[in-house]
Amino acid sequence: MQIAIVGGTGTLGRYVAERLSQCGHEVRALSRHSSEYQVDLKTGEGLAEALRGCDVVVDASNDASKSASQTLVSGTERLLAAEQAAGVQHHVGVSIVGCELVPMGYFQTKAEQERVLTVISFTLNAGRIIALDVVRNPDKLRNVPVPPP
Ligand SMILES: NC(=O)c1ccc[n+]([C@@H]2O[C@H](COP(=O)([O-])OP(=O)(O)OC[C@H]3O[C@@H](n4cnc5c(N)ncnc54)[C@H](OP(=O)(O)O)[C@@H]3O)[C@@H](O)[C@H]2O)c1
Repeated sequence: MQIAIVGGTGTLGRYVAERLSQCGHEVRALSRHSSEYQVDLKTGEGLAEALRGCDVVVDASNDASKSASQTLVSGTERLLAAEQAAGVQHHVGVSIVGCELVPMGYFQTKAEQERVLTVISFTLNAGRIIALDVVRNPDKLRNVPVPPP
């Protein structure tokens, strides 16, 4: 399959890209500073071209700045719209176990990203959220599929 990894140059994305390549998939790493597929979730720039021909998108992007919601929440909406336009069949989002319980800006933004992703992707019948706890050792990832509401 042709798989686009948004944030494919990051801590988690690099690892996912390597593993999927080892499994025989064609992998594209998308990010603002990617050498091949430059995209910006804050504006949507580059997404249409980068997603052309892709079957699956894994969103491993991140933003811990004050404007994180532009990347993680509005960016998710932009990404899903671009995926729909490109005919992408499956979206994998990454969240944080229990983020909705932590009353701090970044975690609340992640919880909002989950809500957006849940509503839109299950409307399209194409989504799956994977909630992770802290990725210090990617070999010990604990994947927790979150059911639709
Ligand atoms: N690391 C952890 O311990 C951990 C734990 C639990 C959950 N998670 C989740 O895992 C996901 C990935 O986290 P991470 O730690 O791997 O992040 P990271 O190392 O900070 O990597 C972030 C990636 O996103 C890209 N990016 C940032 N802003 C972007 C934008 N506007 N448009 C497109 N790409 C952008 C970055 O590349 P450029 O700078 O080139 O754009 C980079 O490739 C996040 O959803 C995070 O909440 C991580």
